[in-house]
Amino acid sequence: MVRFLSLLFFLFWSITGAVAGTPAAVEKGRQLYLSYGCALCHGWDARGDGINAQKFVPPPTDFYDLKTYHHGSDWDSMRRSIEYGIKEDSSIMPAFEHVPPKQVNQIITYLQSLQASASVRHEGQKKK
Ligand code: HEC
Repeated sequence: MVRFLSLLFFLFWSITGAVAGTPAAVEKGRQLYLSYGCALCHGWDARGDGINAQKFVPPPTDFYDLKTYHHGSDWDSMRRSIEYGIKEDSSIMPAFEHVPPKQVNQIITYLQSLQASASVRHEGQKKK
């Protein structure tokens, strides 16, 4: 019975949460984002305003704002940026090769939920 319920739960979330990820998965990704130190550059709220942010040109990505992605905001591009890093001008996004792929996916789930929440907000603003 427990199994059946968790299957139902899973199905429910895979349908309703297909784009934004489930709240639990997003929260897990957020914790990994914090524990790997992404926040030092990208900010506690992933707004691109971490304590080291000013050192970099171009600055760390604001994950809510698609305009600040220079290397692609889709899943594969983000995975590439995280695993291999980026070196551009005086900007360094370190490579996180040591992070297991499953955890990279969880972090991306979190970051893409921010993209999704931002686009929902933009649509809401347009309607006004
Ligand atoms: C030392 C500072 C620093 C740390 C730590 C850091 N980043 Fe970055 N990151 C950057 C900078 C700077 C850029 C922008 C590079 C550019 O635009 O050329 C960037 C870009 C990115 C991009 C590419 C976005 C785009 O421009 O398309 C992703 C994805 C990303 N970071 C994820 C992460 C994740 C996840 C972590 C933690 C595991 C992390 N970063 C840790 C500095 C950092």
